[in-house]
Order: sequence, then C-alpha cells, then structure tokens
Amino acid sequence: MYIVFNTLHGDDIKERGKMRPGAFRGQIGVGVVFVLCASGAAVTDGQAPATAVSPTTGKALYESACMSCHGPDGRGMPRSAVGFDIPVPDFTDCSFATPEPDPDWVTVVQHGGPVRAFDRRMPAFGGALSADEIKQILGYIRGMCTDARWPRGELNLPRPQRTEKAFPENETVGTVAIDPRGGGAVTTEVIYERRLGPRNQYEIKVPFELNGTTPDGWQRGLGDIALGFKRVLNHSLERGAILSAGGEVIFPTGKEERGLGGGTTVFEPFILFGQMLPRDSFLQAHAALELPANRDRASNEGFVRLAVGRTFAQNAGAGRAWSAMIEVLASREFTSGARTTWDLVPQVQVTLPTRQHIAASVGVEMPVNERRGRGPRVLFYLLWDWFDGGFFDGW
Ligand code: HEC
Repeated sequence: MYIVFNTLHGDDIKERGKMRPGAFRGQIGVGVVFVLCASGAAVTDGQAPATAVSPTTGKALYESACMSCHGPDGRGMPRSAVGFDIPVPDFTDCSFATPEPDPDWVTVVQHGGPVRAFDRRMPAFGGALSADEIKQILGYIRGMCTDARWPRGELNLPRPQRTEKAFPENETVGTVAIDPRGGGAVTTEVIYERRLGPRNQYEIKVPFELNGTTPDGWQRGLGDIALGFKRVLNHSLERGAILSAGGEVIFPTGKEERGLGGGTTVFEPFILFGQMLPRDSFLQAHAALELPANRDRASNEGFVRLAVGRTFAQNAGAGRAWSAMIEVLASREFTSGARTTWDLVPQVQVTLPTRQHIAASVGVEMPVNERRGRGPRVLFYLLWDWFDGGFFDGW
C-alpha cells in the first residue's frame, strides 16, 4: 500500500512542494501514508471474507440446492428449463456479482428474494441450509467471476457527506447544503457517477446555487460544473482496504460577479482510501490539492478529510442499514500566514427501500476554528444506486 501510494502520489506531492513555498502538501502526503500504514496494520476480523471453503462441499451443496435454477456454470438456466419468466442472474458476470457484498447475498439466500424486493422465485433456504452451508455455497459462487481486478462490494463503504469514496460506483446523488448565515445560501448539486469496467469511474457534478448574501440581494443560477475521473490502484478484501486516485476539473460555469462561482478553472488531483474495521466499522480518507488556473482569483489549497463510522443493520441485515459517521475536515491555503481550518461533520445515513439501493443522509458541518466568515451548514443528500434497480423499484 505504502509503495503504491508513494510512487504514484508521494513523489508528485514532494515535487510540487519544492516548487512553491509552504510545504503543507508534503505534510498531507506524510499524514495520509501514516493513516494507510496504521490502518493497514489493523487487519479486520468482523467483516473479513469467508474463510477458505472446500470447493467440493460448496460445489456439491450448490449442485443440489441451487443448480436447478442457477445452472451448472452459474449463468442461469434458460427460461424453458426453469418454467418462469424472471431472468436468473449470471454469477460469472463480474460486473453484476462483485459489487454485491456477501452479507446481502446471505440475507437473500436465507430469507428469499422478497427480503430485498427481488422475485419470490428465489426461494428462502434459512430452514434448509445452515449458516455455514450457505457460506460454503457462496464461496463456490464467488469463484465463478474469475477476473480479480473487480473490487468486492464489501469495500463499497457508506458515502460520507464530504469525503469521497474510493470504490467506483454507478450512482446518482442529489445534495443540498444550507448556510443560514447572512441572507442565507443554498447549494444543490446533482452528481452522476458511472463505472467504466473493473477499476475506473467518471463523474459529473452540476451545482445550482441560490445565494442571498450578495449586495444585490438573492442571486440564483448554475454554479461551477466539475468533471472527475478516478481509478482503483489497489484493493484487497482480505485486508479490507481499497486505494484509488484521480482528478477533477472544476470549470468556471457559474457567474462569479453574481456570487455563483469561483471564476477560474480549478484542477484537483486526489487520492482516496477506504478501510473496513471490525464490527461493521470503517474509516475513509480523502486528500486533495486544489490548483486554480488563475491565481489572482483563488490561491492553491490542500485538504484532508477523514470519516469514521459504523453501520447498524436492523433485523440482522433484513431491515434498514443505519450508518453513523463523523468526518474531520482540514483545509489550508498555500499562502503565507494562512491557517489550517478545521471542521467536524457528525451525520447519519439510512437506506430507505427494501432493496437498499437508495439512501438518505443528514449532517451538520461545524467549523471548529477560524470561524470568521464561516458558520455551520446543514448537509443533506439522497443517493440512488441505479445499478441495483430503478428509483421506484424495490420499495
Ligand atoms: C427455484 C429457482 C431458484 C433456486 C432453486 C435458487 N435460486 Fe437464487 N435466484 C432465483 C431467481 C429467479 C433470482 C433472481 C431474482 C430477481 O432478480 O428478482 C435469484 C437470485 C439469486 C441471487 C441474487 C440476488 C441479487 O443480489 O441480485 C443469489 C445470490 C442467489 N439467487 C443465490 C442462490 C443460492 C445460493 C441458491 C441455492 C442455495 C439459489 N439461489 C437457489 C431462483 C432460484
């Protein structure tokens, strides 16, 4: 982990650090490497992958209980053979199989399709198979996707408000940030994220600003549109860790003179890290530089964001999932005399439909220091993982 990070980003950071005064970037690098090492050492147990299973047992159980519908190779039996119209999933298709975490599949196998708003033709095996037998079967099914480049869905940790996730996603998020100070300001943003193959993802962010703090009264309109790309560098379900890097370009599409944008193109290289911890806890980290093209309008900046949290599943996984998180945000301009600003963001996320593909989150961003010109903001988002179903499906 350290080597990947160091070659791909550490050198880059040090290089920039030499070019300009203010070695804070180096500190970000060191800080994050430290986090990576520290958390890498704390290998998880709670959510660690299924222990090695004997393939013959898993295979034999699969053949007797699942094969009649899911087929000898896991691709699903044809409709003519199963006698119903519902398509049976293809377990050899990594793009379908890998994003699904084991606990979700265990829930479906134990309680049947309807527990996650799937079809009732996926039967419940909770009475017929022991937890260990289900684990063995899933171990066998997991071997049907043979491309190890796809990170597993367990590493897809709950989305914090400000810390970006390392896992590549197919989702649409709508966010609202309310700043009640002065005349008030509301930023709503639509974020579209799309996965490209096993490791890559691009995203588009379109903000809409409503600003009541300008001298000319309320202003509203498009803010600065951003385009981003990220790539998974390293992932391991055994270590419960995922590391990604990427970049974002923020375009000055908002009208700065009306208080609706930054007025310059900004380049933002970043790294993202996620670590599963025991007992459904997790840690996520996000470090980035913000490099404006026009430095008369904005100065270079760097930030580090950390999120720690824990997920609580209702009804032993059959109900909603609640995730409590707290984020620590540190940000600093690279100008002489600038100080690091700190914020805390306590928040809670909950999955809404039975399918669990839509989640809502609410949090408060609270400045800890440098409070002049900064106040608490209320943050809200609604997230739709459209890969798992339509917005109105699965409730
Ligand atoms: C009678 C037919 C049938 C049998 C037997 C059966 N399944 Fe299924 N299974 C289905 C169907 C149909 C679906 C798709 C449901 C949907 O998409 O609505 C499905 C879906 C699934 C899913 C995917 C859930 C998701 O997240 O998309 C898993 C995992 C699964 N089955 C595992 C098993 C295992 C393990 C066994 C054996 C212990 C088994 N199934 C036996 C019919 C069956």
